[in-house]
Amino acid sequence: MGHTAILADSWITRWYNLLMMRECTTERLLLRPLEIDDAARIQQHFPHWEIVRYLPNQVSWPYPPDGALHFCRDVALPKMERGEEWHWTLRLRSVPEQMIGHLNLMKGEEDNRGLWLGLPWQGQGLMSEACAWANDFWFETLGFPVLRVTKAAANIASRRISEKQGMRLIGTMERDYISGRLPTEAWEITAEEWRAWKNRGDDPDRRGSG
Ligand SMILES: CC(C)(COP(=O)(O)OP(=O)(O)OC[C@H]1O[C@@H](n2cnc3c(N)ncnc32)[C@H](O)[C@@H]1OP(=O)(O)O)[C@@H](O)C(=O)NCCC(=O)NCCS
Repeated sequence: MGHTAILADSWITRWYNLLMMRECTTERLLLRPLEIDDAARIQQHFPHWEIVRYLPNQVSWPYPPDGALHFCRDVALPKMERGEEWHWTLRLRSVPEQMIGHLNLMKGEEDNRGLWLGLPWQGQGLMSEACAWANDFWFETLGFPVLRVTKAAANIASRRISEKQGMRLIGTMERDYISGRLPTEAWEITAEEWRAWKNRGDDPDRRGSG
């Protein structure tokens, strides 16, 4: 293959991967593919102890002033272009100009989903709604057979989302987080289990998966 053909091929792959991601809605949320302009809002709402304490210690802490710009420009957006990860910002449909959190899906054997929500918006079921939508995207749009996540056992809110949305605890281990080395749980759900959970028809989080 000539140089031009290789270049064209890589551009087509890049655009295909970005086009896989559309802006989507759930009952209360707008999920918009991550853009470089989101860095300023991430820098504002992400670096808070309650948000970062159970995140892997690969996240720099204290968070540098250009942490969000580096994350968007050098980590997340290149991985989106390569089709390795899918990142969305979360917004309330009622205030679409304001980013309130972040959710991502990623290829890999152990950790396929990451999430955080700004402090003022926590505790209203918003991330449960977003996760139900993201699980649908993972299984029905991307076509993966299984979704796995790990989390600090002490991270009750994150644990509860896995538990109530039909995931199974498959193992325990220790991992290093920003707050130190902690007992950790691995959870998984298969595509069949996810479809069965959705069809149960008795859980309000299903509003995320319309
Ligand atoms: C995890 C996180 C995204 C949850 O977002 P959220 O929108 O507040 O979650 P929800 O409101 O959908 O709540 C999920 C469940 O956890 C429960 N929950 C939420 N916060 C809780 C808390 N502080 N303590 C105990 N339970 C809590 C809720 O009651 C709900 O369970 P229920 O439906 O049985 O009532 C949010 O807490 C966060 O950003 N944490 C910091 C980042 C993080 O830890 N990410 C995950 C890494 S694995």
